[in-house]
Amino acid sequence: APTDEQAYFDAVLAADQRIEPRDWMPDAYRANLIRQIAQHAHSEIIGMQPEANWLTRAPSLRRKAILLAKIQDEAGHGLYLYSAAETLGADRGELTEWLISGRQKYSSIFNYPTLNFADVGVIGWLVDGAAICNQVPLCRSSFGPYGRAMIRVCKEESFHQRQGYELLMTMMRGTDAQRHMVQEAVDRWWWPALMMFGPPDGDSPNTERSMRWRIKRHTNDELRQRFVDMSVPQAEALGVTLPDPELSWNDERGSHDFGEPDWAELSQVIAGNGACNAQRIEVRRAAHEGGAWVREAAAAFADKNKEMRP
Ligand code: ACO
Repeated sequence: APTDEQAYFDAVLAADQRIEPRDWMPDAYRANLIRQIAQHAHSEIIGMQPEANWLTRAPSLRRKAILLAKIQDEAGHGLYLYSAAETLGADRGELTEWLISGRQKYSSIFNYPTLNFADVGVIGWLVDGAAICNQVPLCRSSFGPYGRAMIRVCKEESFHQRQGYELLMTMMRGTDAQRHMVQEAVDRWWWPALMMFGPPDGDSPNTERSMRWRIKRHTNDELRQRFVDMSVPQAEALGVTLPDPELSWNDERGSHDFGEPDWAELSQVIAGNGACNAQRIEVRRAAHEGGAWVREAAAAFADKNKEMRP
């Protein structure tokens, strides 16, 4: 028979209520949440790099201010998420060590290079669009601090998605060269965006348990399908072609059929062999080491305040 604690945990999940940090939870539930939340936090922080690549070369002051604000939002998202992981007993310094040492993952998408300014728009439209599609259901995740963090993150991501789409609309109204830049960026980012949702359901070892625990609400394939269906009319409105010859409306299913992403490529990128993996980690490591004196000073200041308190 389950213990009282396990029975209470099960009842909370069955009633679709939240588990809070001080509640009892199975060790595996805690470990799985730390895994997903830490990976999510790392993604937000690493995700600042590809876009920061264009900050110094944004084509106008307005575009630069928008991009700067968006990148700062991503830092904020990372911080909410590290805080959520801390409520589970994780140590933030340790999580950063695990990111830098490659023991913990971050999203595959941020290992692709940003080659032209249209990439900034496409990241907003497709990458942040995919992130919203994945994260809106996480607002109902069974762990309270994670779900609540997601609500705010999703509001900001919606703004990011729209700024990307608006940037692309502006370029599409421009010259042929600008339209070409947009199409070329869409061609490069479409398939990696589909891979953000993770491996196909048959190769997703965590999904079944995460769904049972109501951490995840949909499978990887369900959300990928939702994203394709959502993106097709947006691509039409924009006037770009999605680079998939198999993409077509299926009347029977009421959804689009689409081609198979290159799963071998996803495995390679996750394993650390993508175009920019080494560079992303190196930049993160340098920032962490360069910031050591700030952490030391903050700790010394906190100790001093403690001593001075009566
Ligand atoms: N990039 C890197 N790793 C991935 C990716 C990806 N796109 N997709 C799956 N993986 C990893 C998983 O982390 C897991 O590895 P692990 O067990 O060592 O942690 C393995 O591949 C197998 O995948 P799944 O069993 O399907 O893993 P999971 O159930 O956790 O599903 C998913 C993956 C959908 C990414 C889930 O973790 C999730 O929803 N996370 C929260 C959202 C998130 O992290 N978004 C970050 C990008 S969005 C942004 O920052 C703008």
